[in-house]
Amino acid sequence: GITRHYKFDIKLQNVTRLCKTKSILTVNGKFPGPRIIAREGDRVLIKVANHVQNNVTLHWHGIRQLRSGWADGPAYITQCPIQTGQTYLYNFTIIGQRGTLFWHAHISWLRATIYGPIVILPKRHVPYPFPQPFKEVPIIFGEWWNANTETIISQALKTGSGPNVSDAYTINGLPGPLYNCSTKDTFKLKVKPGKTYLLRLINAALNNELFFSIANHSLTVVEADAVYVKPFRTQTILITPGQTTNVLLRTKPKAPNAIFAMAARPYVTGPAAFDNSTTMGLLEYETGPNHNKNKKLPLLKPVLPKLNDTSFSFKFSQKIRSLANAKFPAKVPKNINRKFFFTVGLGLSSCSKSQRCTNNTQVLAGINNVSFIQPNTALLQAHFFNKTKGVFTTDFPTNPPFKFNYTGKPPSNLMLSTGTKVVVLPYKTSVELVLQDTSIIGAESHPLHLHGFNFFVVGMGFGNFDSKKDPPKFNLVDPAERNTIGVPSGGWVAIRFLTDNPGVWFMHCHLEVHTSWGLKMAWVVMDGKKPNQKLAPPPSDLPKC
Ligand code: C2O
Repeated sequence: GITRHYKFDIKLQNVTRLCKTKSILTVNGKFPGPRIIAREGDRVLIKVANHVQNNVTLHWHGIRQLRSGWADGPAYITQCPIQTGQTYLYNFTIIGQRGTLFWHAHISWLRATIYGPIVILPKRHVPYPFPQPFKEVPIIFGEWWNANTETIISQALKTGSGPNVSDAYTINGLPGPLYNCSTKDTFKLKVKPGKTYLLRLINAALNNELFFSIANHSLTVVEADAVYVKPFRTQTILITPGQTTNVLLRTKPKAPNAIFAMAARPYVTGPAAFDNSTTMGLLEYETGPNHNKNKKLPLLKPVLPKLNDTSFSFKFSQKIRSLANAKFPAKVPKNINRKFFFTVGLGLSSCSKSQRCTNNTQVLAGINNVSFIQPNTALLQAHFFNKTKGVFTTDFPTNPPFKFNYTGKPPSNLMLSTGTKVVVLPYKTSVELVLQDTSIIGAESHPLHLHGFNFFVVGMGFGNFDSKKDPPKFNLVDPAERNTIGVPSGGWVAIRFLTDNPGVWFMHCHLEVHTSWGLKMAWVVMDGKKPNQKLAPPPSDLPKC
């Protein structure tokens, strides 16, 4: 591999959307941010300079960061923030991954505007295991907020009510014609007939899973979270925040006299969730031979699943399967060393005095009833220098503190506790983790994201996980290998991974409001014995808290 150099300047930029001009945080003044392109095996150096008042960190979402945990980026987990006027060099090598990922700010809600695609090409002269596309096009979904997102989240944290929904969804930063004065801000994909296009879909939205479809065109899914999958055709994609999906789009053999809309809108679950807005882009053919220039082409629109179509979402996520062939084997851990059962969901916590308290309780979210408290210094530093006292404790519960009917009516007295708790695991532990949605405040889908590893999705179901009946049905042959999975609303998912990467690895719901409410925790993976199984010392420019 070669070394690729990038310079990312965090700076303010005026951007106009929905008829309002707003100064937003960007990388290099671009919205969405610049694309990182590399090949599998390349080393990537990104020098980040912070020219704004906010503290910033960047995360290379889905990059394994093998023994390079210092470059992972979540604030107060692997590093202290880059402060105003400071720089930090993110330095990592892409090992065993190719496909689409993305980068985003990983502090507070700054990823609302600070995000961009990561395109990892196969090694030189290595073809894709699918037809070579004529063209590749990143399509990155996001959300646009008229208000300042930092104000929104700080209000949500103060009042305990859910933050306002965003003002628009976007495709490559553009809301599209269904929004107020946005016709000129519409993403257009111009295509030639009879060609194959590779669309690199990325969901960078803060708080919503999205359905995506293109009118009259089917899509062939070939890759998810930078892992090749068994190709399958579909009209509609479901993509959670944090997920990336590569699809092939085969254009019609002859240019039709029509324009085709591509559209994305949320899949929503949970109490009182409703958001009917849709972002739309256009697929336009280079005009057909019998096209009369004076005639306006009809616009065809796709039909998307209904807003709360959990059954579609569940089936779609189960269709994603590893290639599991000789070239791309699925290395599913078989002999499990440690089993964990984690409940994920919203809950209440007792409180006093704060503005968020109603009847001495406030809404938080947690894993195994623990709502994670962000420490004042980075966990990875504390771990590496063995100064963990007062930073974190190692008593994260391996099972929920109470058993109850997770998907039925919950007991009324379930309070979340708070703390900065981690699970410590030896190097190369094979882990099985069941994530169970709870309905303490309402059943809700949670896209869980794990840093530092890919995991295999060995099982998934509705209702309560049954530790006797469900494991025998696990798929150990060709399960999806990914970094983000939606825990079904009112259901569970079982994943397996091998802790072959020493460091401190964050795991959290990729719905930003849930992360802010505490639906997060961290795994500490110890060094192995051999020199190449150890975490390197921190770089000299690692920011201090
Ligand atoms: Cu995409 Cu912890 O992040």
